[in-house]
Amino acid sequence: MFNQDVEADPFPGVVAAKETIQSSQCLLLVTPEHNYGVPGVLKNAVDWLSRPFGDPTLRGRPLALAGASTGYMGTMRAQLAWRQMWHFFRAPVFSDAELTVSFAASRFTDGRLTDEEMLAQLDRYLDALHAWLERCD
Ligand SMILES: Cc1cc2nc3c(=O)[nH]c(=O)nc-3n(C[C@H](O)[C@H](O)[C@H](O)COP(=O)(O)O)c2cc1C
Repeated sequence: MFNQDVEADPFPGVVAAKETIQSSQCLLLVTPEHNYGVPGVLKNAVDWLSRPFGDPTLRGRPLALAGASTGYMGTMRAQLAWRQMWHFFRAPVFSDAELTVSFAASRFTDGRLTDEEMLAQLDRYLDALHAWLERCD
């Protein structure tokens, strides 16, 4: 768990994730949903990535959201919660398309997305994200 007493000496995994994100045009956050909100483990990761205050990893960097859950809303509520949180990072958040993979248990085979409808939606989502990022430049 994030602990401010050790934030100046983060785990190697945090350092590596920061490097990857800082060399990226956009962060695509693919979220589960826990109790109509963001899952604690992913929130903890974001807390690590956000520190120390003013760190450039998340601040101002374009964010896109997607998610998969077993419920019928497919993480819509968690995605809205992330949006509200991202206000803090003063970053543009992609809104031209949404990807909410509902009833996830029936859409994957051996860990791979195989549902035709969702695959088509994923293609449309990524096309729209690509077009948005071109405009963000
Ligand atoms: C504590 C907990 C809370 C959950 N809350 C939600 C929820 O609010 N909405 C939802 O659609 N699914 C919810 N789920 C079901 C998750 O969507 C499901 O467990 C998840 O898709 C499994 O993914 P995984 O195999 O990657 O862990 C919850 C699961 C857990 C364990």
